[in-house]
Amino acid sequence: MASSPAATADTFNYTVVRQFAIMTVVWGIVGMLVGVVIAAQLLWPQLNLDIPWLTYGRLRPLHTNAVIFAFGGSALFAASYYVVQRTCQARLFCGKLAAFTFWGWQLVILSAAITLPLGITTSKEYAELEWPIDILITLVWVAYAIVFFGTIVKRRSKHIYVANWFFGSYILTIAILHIVNNIEMPVSMWKSYSAYAGVQDAMVQWWYGHNAVGFFLTTSFLGMMYYFIPKQAERPIYSYRLSIVHFWALAFTYMWAGPHHLLYTSLPDWTQSLGMVFSLILLAPSWGGMINGIMTLSGAWHKLRTDPILKFMVVSLSFYGMSTFEGSMMSIRTVNALSHYTDWTIGHVHSGALGWVAMITFGMLYYLIPRLWGREKMYSTRLIEVHFWIATIGVVLYIASMWIAGVMQGLMWRATEADGSLTYSFVESVKSTFPFYAIRLMGGALYLCGMLLMAYNVFKTVMGQTPVNPAIPQDTIDPVRSIAASAHA
Ligand code: HEM
Ligand code: HEM
Repeated sequence: MASSPAATADTFNYTVVRQFAIMTVVWGIVGMLVGVVIAAQLLWPQLNLDIPWLTYGRLRPLHTNAVIFAFGGSALFAASYYVVQRTCQARLFCGKLAAFTFWGWQLVILSAAITLPLGITTSKEYAELEWPIDILITLVWVAYAIVFFGTIVKRRSKHIYVANWFFGSYILTIAILHIVNNIEMPVSMWKSYSAYAGVQDAMVQWWYGHNAVGFFLTTSFLGMMYYFIPKQAERPIYSYRLSIVHFWALAFTYMWAGPHHLLYTSLPDWTQSLGMVFSLILLAPSWGGMINGIMTLSGAWHKLRTDPILKFMVVSLSFYGMSTFEGSMMSIRTVNALSHYTDWTIGHVHSGALGWVAMITFGMLYYLIPRLWGREKMYSTRLIEVHFWIATIGVVLYIASMWIAGVMQGLMWRATEADGSLTYSFVESVKSTFPFYAIRLMGGALYLCGMLLMAYNVFKTVMGQTPVNPAIPQDTIDPVRSIAASAHA
């Protein structure tokens, strides 16, 4: 392994990483607050106060855009910019362009926060934003790619650490998905029509939608996992070879699984079967990655007793394993016949989103914040511990209630009498769901409280007056060098 010159924290561009890290916390609170509001609206629809901007149909896409692109997106910018610099031992390429990605991305989020409540939407899920905002996203994303790959090009370490492969593929794939799915004909400043029609439109949309999950909410966060878990555990990755196999297998398989969102539709039958088969195959690389992450703790399990940051990371991987197993099962046609249109899907989404995506992000932030601001550690480890338990209880309440509600709905909708008539009317299923919506609301509110605790802890850490002693190493283990240690794996 080529040894790199001793780069100190001063040689890196931490400004943009700090900005994105703080906005991750801010957008996390906003996005989850809207999530709690819409969860409450499903219980008490009158909470829309008869104001069109506050209706469920407008706030729901606001929630999904805020949590995925604002919260998740900011976390990914922060993670990738930090990791690429540390592992390449090089300062971020073109600081001005990096600053543009920060301000440009915030502008995208702000535009979404204004247009979505106004009812301006393309009506494509996760791609609701209208064409002028799409163009802005494209510009920011191209700048992001230049900054990221530019840094890889100017790297001072020979090897490209595996986390960067995951980040790189996410950046490239999201660019392609965004452009292809948003080819549309503008008819006015805020209205456009998709270039595709009918079932082709649906197929392109769910090729996009599924890979948005696959690359925005999974591959990229695996990049985060491959850097921050070895760091926090102070152990090299369990198997570096497995991480490479994991990367290629995941990237190849995800692309084909989109049709599982369109089972029992007018999409050709063979396409649906293809989507189902690839979704089942997808379980193998998903679990390979999870096992690789969890086994990285070999010899360091005792740290779980005292280190709540590591707890966040390991529990996030368990949720990753659980949600991918569940997703593969839900792709089986006969299972999907029961789960589709029900709250089971919502349970699946949030076991991935709250359990995996958000928890690994919390782990990363607790690792990153003290280092970015030169503090020895977070203001309060006890508060991290409390956050961990509140969040875990919150997710469990959320997903367990949605599973029960979902299976119940599916069974009620398909129940028939001997003469073929339906046993239950639709409204009866809605009424039966009511208690589960209440439990979900409680789980979501708890989760949001955890976010607020984190915000307080981050604030106190950032504002703290005790800079870290420079003698304390900022990073005790360099994953690039640790590849050598795990080369036998
Ligand atoms: C406090 C935390 C949260 C609460 C209370 C919450 C609540 C909700 C609610 C009520 C819905 C609508 C469900 C429906 O239409 O029946 C929803 C949808 C959704 N949420 Fe969340 N959410 C939270 C956090 C998150 C996070 C962190 C993410 C992603 C990182 C996320 C991603 C999504 C997605 C993708 C959907 C759309 C699901 C679909 O269309 O199948 N949520 N959320
Ligand atoms: C092996 C991995 C996975 C497979 C095979 C899979 C499969 C599925 C299936 C079959 C559905 C239901 C489609 C429907 O009936 O409409 C679904 C929905 C969804 N999944 Fe997964 N899933 C996987 C992992 C994940 C992960 C890790 C996340 C989040 C981080 C996630 C997020 C979502 C979202 C957001 C939806 C809702 C899409 C929508 O209708 O709006 N999935 N997934």
